[in-house]
Amino acid sequence: MARTTGKHFSKKFVFFLSFSGLLVAALIADFLWASSSSSSSSSSSAYISTASIWALENSGSSIIPIVENKAHKRGTVKDKKDPVPGRVLSATFADIPAPELQWEKMAAAPVPRLDGAAIQIKNLLYVFAGYGTIDYVHTHVDIYNFTDNTWGGRFDMPKEMAHSHLGMATDGRYIYVVTGQYGPQCRGPTARTFVLDTETKQWWDLPRLPVPRYAPATQLWRGRLHVMGGSKENRHTPGLEHWSLAVKNGKALEKEWRTEIPIPRGGPHRACVVVDDRLFVIGGQEGDFMAKPGSPIFKCSRRHEVVYGDVYMLDDEMKWRILPPMPKPDSHIEFAWVIVNNSIIIMGGTTEKHPVTKKMILVGEVFQFQLDTLKWLVVGKLPYRVKTTLVGFWDGWLYFTSGQRDRGPDDPAPKKVIGEMWRTKLSL
Ligand SMILES: *[C@@H]1O[C@H](CO)[C@@H](O)[C@H](O)[C@H]1NC(C)=O
Ligand SMILES: *[C@@H]1O[C@H](CO)[C@@H](O)[C@H](O)[C@H]1NC(C)=O
Repeated sequence: MARTTGKHFSKKFVFFLSFSGLLVAALIADFLWASSSSSSSSSSSAYISTASIWALENSGSSIIPIVENKAHKRGTVKDKKDPVPGRVLSATFADIPAPELQWEKMAAAPVPRLDGAAIQIKNLLYVFAGYGTIDYVHTHVDIYNFTDNTWGGRFDMPKEMAHSHLGMATDGRYIYVVTGQYGPQCRGPTARTFVLDTETKQWWDLPRLPVPRYAPATQLWRGRLHVMGGSKENRHTPGLEHWSLAVKNGKALEKEWRTEIPIPRGGPHRACVVVDDRLFVIGGQEGDFMAKPGSPIFKCSRRHEVVYGDVYMLDDEMKWRILPPMPKPDSHIEFAWVIVNNSIIIMGGTTEKHPVTKKMILVGEVFQFQLDTLKWLVVGKLPYRVKTTLVGFWDGWLYFTSGQRDRGPDDPAPKKVIGEMWRTKLSL
């Protein structure tokens, strides 16, 4: 029951915060959030032990268990500024101890990119769109060649294609590009959907998504393009809807998207991966920046966000199962993953905001999810903390480029948008 109340409570506050910019409200809500989730922790951890693999009977209308992240309990801090004496704050914002990796700096991308998208096909990493600055978005594709480690092959995107928060997947030749944000700052989304033939560099239209979404989880699975979650049209409200479209060789085989089982938890910026005929949706967040009401430039303004490390899986039965969560909540990872030797590797991201300063906190770890044991490991440290990395793997090397990095080793808040490319030898 505590769980239900907590969920209900926090939803109300997310709603409330959407319409108020008051820091006071944020602080109160944050306190309530913390207290409501801690009151539910005993019931939810009991739940995990009995039902860590749990099929959702009737997704959408059911209450979703709050899967308590182990990292919540591992470290705690007490800060002098804590308004409630004795309250224990979660330390998920802290770095997790991790092995050092040897990083080699490669040629930087032609432009810096935040919230860009990337797809690897063989030895090429196609890097799309993204913000250059908050007021400028890219409208082209750059290509990195892993064989000779050079950038090149720039070409334009269709004019109507979104510039950030894209859903994207590939079959090895065609790249499907679904919905996303059109324009800079916190402008509205488009439902327009495209396909790129990487051999001819030609773009084609696909049926629009039924409604636009920001950063929906997107993947090709069993001949269908699946799109789920993301944020709704206001950029903030999590969507639970899930659609699919039959596609083959870059063509839609149907005129309309089909409605599929809703995802248990909505929101943008998650990794969506198909391995071994199973579809995984990892991490993400509820809530995001919204356009300031009445702003002619749709100026971004910060709203209440909840970052999570949940892992959901769909298999033959088309029922969602809940798998062990990430070592810490992690968002902005939609193109920050690769599959290597039956593991999913995820690099960087954002985690829960700092409980006292409320600053956004970046992630500097490399995570491994072993698909045979369903265990998470922290396998290394990035050269710095960074979100919305674009990741590839070639010939034993793990690469990342782009995103927004931290202010320095002692300050995990976001600062510079980068185009840097780095690689390290990976040995799992
Ligand atoms: C990638 O680099 C290799 C080695 O220089 C070259 O043979 C190949 O043609 C390049 N691929 C593309 C698509 O440019
Ligand atoms: C993947 O497995 C192969 C075969 O066991 C091994 O040679 C290779 O080093 C592994 N790759 C990584 C990145 O660990």
